[in-house]
Amino acid sequence: MKLVVNTEKTVCRLGDLFGIFFEDINHAADGGLYAELVRNRSFECCPVDNPDYHGLTAWEAIGDTKWLRFAVGEEAPAFAENPHYLVMEYTGKGRKAGVWNLGFNTGISVEKGKRYYLTIYARGVNRKEKLCIALCAGTGQIYAERELALENTWNKYEWSIEAPVTDAGARLALTLAQAGSVHVAYVSLFPADTFRGRQNGMRKDLAELLEAMHPKFMRFPGGCLVHTGSLNREDRDSLYRWKDTLGEVEHRPARKNRWGYHQTLGLGYYEYFQFCEDIGAKPLPVLPAGYDPHHHCAADGELLGEFVQDALDLVEFANGGSDTRWGKIRCELGHPAPFKLEYLGIGNEEEGEEFYPRYAAIHRALRECFPEIKLIGTSGPFAAGHWYERGWEEARREGADLVDEHFYMAPQWFISNSRRYEDFPGTPPYVFVGEYASKGNTWYHALAEACFMTGLQNSSHAVKLACYAPLFCNVDYQDWKPDLIWYDNHRAAETPNYHVQKLFMENQGDWLLSQKWEDMPEPVFSGGCRLSGGVDLQAEYAKVLYRNIVIVDEDTKETLYQADEICLDDERCGNIPVWLNAENYTIQMEAERLSGRGGFAVHFAVCGNREIFWRLGGSSNKDSALIEVIEGQTAVMTYQTRHIEEHRIYSLRIEIRGRHIETLIDGRREQAAEWKPMRAEAMYASSSMDEKNGDIIIKLVNVLPVRQKLEIVLEGEHSLEGKHPLEGKHLLEGEHLSDGWEGHVLSLAGSGGTDAFGLEQIATKEEQLSVARDAFEWEAAEESVHIIRLRRRRR
Ligand code: AHR
Repeated sequence: MKLVVNTEKTVCRLGDLFGIFFEDINHAADGGLYAELVRNRSFECCPVDNPDYHGLTAWEAIGDTKWLRFAVGEEAPAFAENPHYLVMEYTGKGRKAGVWNLGFNTGISVEKGKRYYLTIYARGVNRKEKLCIALCAGTGQIYAERELALENTWNKYEWSIEAPVTDAGARLALTLAQAGSVHVAYVSLFPADTFRGRQNGMRKDLAELLEAMHPKFMRFPGGCLVHTGSLNREDRDSLYRWKDTLGEVEHRPARKNRWGYHQTLGLGYYEYFQFCEDIGAKPLPVLPAGYDPHHHCAADGELLGEFVQDALDLVEFANGGSDTRWGKIRCELGHPAPFKLEYLGIGNEEEGEEFYPRYAAIHRALRECFPEIKLIGTSGPFAAGHWYERGWEEARREGADLVDEHFYMAPQWFISNSRRYEDFPGTPPYVFVGEYASKGNTWYHALAEACFMTGLQNSSHAVKLACYAPLFCNVDYQDWKPDLIWYDNHRAAETPNYHVQKLFMENQGDWLLSQKWEDMPEPVFSGGCRLSGGVDLQAEYAKVLYRNIVIVDEDTKETLYQADEICLDDERCGNIPVWLNAENYTIQMEAERLSGRGGFAVHFAVCGNREIFWRLGGSSNKDSALIEVIEGQTAVMTYQTRHIEEHRIYSLRIEIRGRHIETLIDGRREQAAEWKPMRAEAMYASSSMDEKNGDIIIKLVNVLPVRQKLEIVLEGEHSLEGKHPLEGKHLLEGEHLSDGWEGHVLSLAGSGGTDAFGLEQIATKEEQLSVARDAFEWEAAEESVHIIRLRRRRR
């Protein structure tokens, strides 16, 4: 097999192709990237955030608790936006009593010799209380201690502490030694050593992992985080409103995080922009479009106007001069230079007709005022189906610059779909693959993603941006799996997927180069090539009665199976004793939900490790999806929203015609999909060139469990001095190009080991490479990724 790379024939610019997506999910902000060590610092946790929360979540009584009363107060608060505070009354004497904060994971994590800044707002009720603050061990052993003489008005107290030990399970204690009553509104312990030393900044180790990736952009702050909640800005569970995240942290109103926890908003829009600038990534904020697709609430009139205005003001905040209202606010916050906002997402995977007019209102206002901003629409939560098509249609109609596509699929899907975008047009709206992952953190998953990424790069005429999701997960607060980086309060683990992402970002290149394969072996197919196999019925979170079940071979007209009724309970499978060898067949039945909250599932083409099922209703009773199961992992083939009503009889029909599948409900077409057998090419590759140094970068991915030899030919007139596409601009004075190439190869492969976080380890290898002429042989180990970076020899 031969890969011929034309080192001077550029196909298109790769621009900002590979970036990252930060969503505050899995405690990615509080308890994650945001460096605050105290959990529930404003005593604002509440059951709206999570039914288990209350104002004293993460605070525990300590000491002489028999004489201690502690509660949450709200009279005459320190901060109107965060009106709750700790009330601590001690009626004993001579012994200490109070509370301590449990931090995140095992506690508050401190490192010996490092400095931490404590900030506390407190008042004494009787004007003579002395509040004792201590950094201590979980055993109670004091590391550092200080007493504050309180006034009977709210005051801010600060203390800089040097940790005398390293302890990932430390506590921050607030106690009274004498009888008295105190109120505490805010307690923060922040490491001085944040990323780039920023105040109110990021946890250094996590931030450095992101910086090391060299992402071209960062999408933030969500995800579903952005568009789930109340339309009313004042509500505790409001949609994400960026303006609430600015200014002094004590005044930022606590909000429910849609992933079931508490948001301090300490990591706000200013910090996001600053962080993007610090790591050299272009900011790509996502705004809610005045519509919550999960609850179908949509803003109108004045309320919609608020969302439009928020969008306009955000651009002004990021890019406006000090003579503009929001630009001035940015300057006052400490950043006179613009944040150079180029991209803006309006909405995140919305489905529902209500979305489009609201998208249009925001889009049009932004276009008129800021035509230079690239606006991003959305194609819903899946890679195909009704909302996918509608999203694209509307984005085209409005003239969006990009459309944000999301998919979480089995690794085999990513391998089979590496050419998904090959035939997409090279005109706007372009593709933004804003969320993707292959449902696992093994090396095989990472490998499948690497394979898909070569396809994204090869289709960069159409795909302009892409980022994996989710980025972060605190191991003790998991909402979603898999994730790119796992951590607890003092450690971080890079997944195999992280290594692939990093490698592709570091070695993206600026130009896609033309390449072609010669003598490429036939692709390998798995999971069979025909939709034959067994049929099963299932009830999804319901009790279901299936009646008049008939399966007909459409070629012979033979009835292959017939049954009067099958009654099924919750997730129990009703195996139909028939093995279909037919090419073209129809499965038909009536289905009625007798009780429960879900609906129906008809499994067909069940064969070995592959099957397809049509799910109606599902756990949240909102979808109609054709889903393929490949080796235990799912890939949604097409999707539509649908609600199943109780005691309504639905006539269901599935027509399988070769690889074409159509579903019908009550005689009306529900969806159609083309089944693609799983295929893997013998090798995947993408070639690019770095503008700054003329380096040729070849990315190779071998997804097969066999070693592969290939010849790589570097073609082009570049070898002749003066005809180099970069016209010698990377040559030093007196330097000339000569024959041959020099460089190195970075290789990744899974090693199967595990680390403290239970992740598969990967082996990385770096080798020098010297190529005498314009061709060389390369052997790719089984299931491996290689980055070959070559530079013309100089003399
Ligand atoms: O990445 C996790 C979630 O997946 C995102 O919040 C959402 O956009 C998608 O459904």
